Amino acid sequence: MTKDEVRQYLEFYRDLGVKSVYRRQASAPIERAAEIRTAPVPQITASSPQLTAPPKQIVVVPPLEPAHDNLLKIMEDIGECKRCRLHEGRNRLVFGSGNEQARLVFVGEGPGADEDAQGLPFVGRAGQLLTQMIEGTARKEGIPLSRPDVYICNVVKCRPPENRTPQPDEMEICGQFLYRQLMTIRPKAICALGSTAAKALLGTKDGVTRLRGKWQQWRDIPVMVTYHPSYLLRPYNQNAKKEAWEDLKMVLHYVYD
Ligand code: URA
Repeated sequence: MTKDEVRQYLEFYRDLGVKSVYRRQASAPIERAAEIRTAPVPQITASSPQLTAPPKQIVVVPPLEPAHDNLLKIMEDIGECKRCRLHEGRNRLVFGSGNEQARLVFVGEGPGADEDAQGLPFVGRAGQLLTQMIEGTARKEGIPLSRPDVYICNVVKCRPPENRTPQPDEMEICGQFLYRQLMTIRPKAICALGSTAAKALLGTKDGVTRLRGKWQQWRDIPVMVTYHPSYLLRPYNQNAKKEAWEDLKMVLHYVYD
């Protein structure tokens, strides 16, 4: 099925008032990310009889966990992504950086201006604070760890306009790649930075204050939610800074002791 046919099909459903479609796990592995098979597209014309039920459709999309997945494959599958509106304003897609075998992964919200310019996550002011937090806490706790030892990525890979919070559909579309990154790396723990990352991983609307300080879970991997470094940069959030340090200490000891 061509892209235009898929679009035509989805528009047809939208016109019927169907707002959500769901992907199903393919029953057989499919190697090519773009491969989609469906039943024939109904040709709707002005003279078509009124349809009483939507035509049966089988959509086979790539499995969420392709065999022998790795970061390079995921990056190739993302390609010059135009799957959501965020591509319109981006300069560089920010895939993630760090150690593919990392035992700890940090997940942020989405690239800011500096990250969009460099194509790397957490390189602006918030990123510098994150680096200090990781390396400073590790040093104090006697854990030999520097930033390149961990892996850092975001829920969405393209900068939202005016640094706004990513919208649910953007998070869902990009989420499939975050999922694959995490499944490939299989860290011992994940640190979710801020409420967007918490929401994407845990599916909860609870805020950071409620979630932080105790282990949550993404599939079988422990998740620690803590404050986003951008939040900690605001001068009136100094108490949160102490709490974030405590959270990080707990994570580092869990992962590296
Ligand atoms: N904020 C994020 O959430 N991610 C980045 O990469 C930078 C800032």
